[in-house]
Amino acid sequence: MNEGPTIFVIFGVTGDLSQRKLLPALFSLFAHNLLPKKFSIVGFSRREWKHGDLHFFIENVLKERKINFDGWNLVENDSTKLIKDFLSHVEYAKGIFDDPTAYVNLKQQLDKIEQKFGQCSNKLLYFAVSPVFYEIIFENLSKSGLNIPCGGELGWTRVLVEKPFGKDTETAQKLEDQLSRIFKEPQIFRIDHYLAKETVQNILAFRFANSMFEPIWNAGAIEKVHIQVLEKNGVGDRGDFYDGVGALRDVGQNHILQMLAIIAMDKPLTMQGDDVRKMRANILRKLVFTKNDQVFRGQYKGFLSEKGVSPDSQTETYFKLPAYVGTKRWKNIPFILESGKGMKESKAEISVYFKRLDCAAQNVVRFRIQPNEGIEIDLWVKKPGFENEFQQKVLSFSYEASKFENEVPDAYERVLFDCVRGDQTLFASTDEVRYSWKFITPILREWQKLPLTQYENK
Ligand code: BG6
Repeated sequence: MNEGPTIFVIFGVTGDLSQRKLLPALFSLFAHNLLPKKFSIVGFSRREWKHGDLHFFIENVLKERKINFDGWNLVENDSTKLIKDFLSHVEYAKGIFDDPTAYVNLKQQLDKIEQKFGQCSNKLLYFAVSPVFYEIIFENLSKSGLNIPCGGELGWTRVLVEKPFGKDTETAQKLEDQLSRIFKEPQIFRIDHYLAKETVQNILAFRFANSMFEPIWNAGAIEKVHIQVLEKNGVGDRGDFYDGVGALRDVGQNHILQMLAIIAMDKPLTMQGDDVRKMRANILRKLVFTKNDQVFRGQYKGFLSEKGVSPDSQTETYFKLPAYVGTKRWKNIPFILESGKGMKESKAEISVYFKRLDCAAQNVVRFRIQPNEGIEIDLWVKKPGFENEFQQKVLSFSYEASKFENEVPDAYERVLFDCVRGDQTLFASTDEVRYSWKFITPILREWQKLPLTQYENK
């Protein structure tokens, strides 16, 4: 862990993402003693607030999340005191994204914190804002010099950028151009929180730490792969954002393709940084979709009356389509990608189906990303008795049964922790973003011609 003093600046500190994910994750890292010893959090927002108002707000956020301190093994077990200690590191910065003076003020505020720390400090800038603000924020950051690190290894400046990275190939490229004008690639951390999920990382451990699977992890033995991210909930209060984005852009272009890459990638030289990112990118670069492939797109009944959704919206809330990886290893093997909101159940799961031999039995490896996290293998055994019959049983590893679940960090804790230590393994590279849009953009164009099926609790 980089022990240099670190300032976390959250743009959009009062927003939904900040409340649901960032503030609880920062607090949890703090409570587990995983933040640098000297740190500050500066929350930037337009509200006419003083530091105390932000403290009150965060205290409520943390209390509402009913953080359960049991099993935390805390250095401090008094939760009220812990929250108070945490808040003593938090400051407020009032500003409007398009006002250049707000950034000059912010810089002065950060300078003061650095004076208190007595040295040039690391700065982590988190954009928890709608992408419509990116351009103006980047421009103002650059004008105020806030993008320039004050030091080298100690005294870095890094940015955490949330998806969506654009809407298609062209807009993604535009965003990349803007980012790369003011930051260098090692400074840019593009979040795909699925990469930071413990259960997704475990896929690589399963594949490469268990020597029995790698020889059969190919088109010779595998029939198909099915990747699902299904959610019971509808769009909730994100209708405004979601309408015009749709399921394929929202989770297909990123989370689902990243999981595909992890299932299909070759063994990297090491399990770190660019070695892994390059292997994922190699798969994304080879993705193929042909116009004759069967594609389904749907919209859940009731979507049109969600707040913020246009009454004649043609946005899909569900999709299912096959992707192929154009390499010898994966020749003609369909990777079926499926995601939807308003479904019967919530689950994220990857099922790898093996080819049948001369009987009906089929082995399936299932990575249970969430819930009931774990890995299962459908296995066939002889049914005890006098006949020669097979029966399906499940070999299973479960986080809960292994008493692992208290040790699993939330994906956002991992995101923040890795950004501080400068590890980009679990973040999307510029190549990965480019290749995934190259695959998705033609589908988005093609499928406008397809009917949009209405569904109810699919
Ligand atoms: C986000 C999408 O990236 O991922 C949301 O924007 C989706 O629409 C969410 O609900 C799913 O993430 P998780 O971690 O809840 O499975």
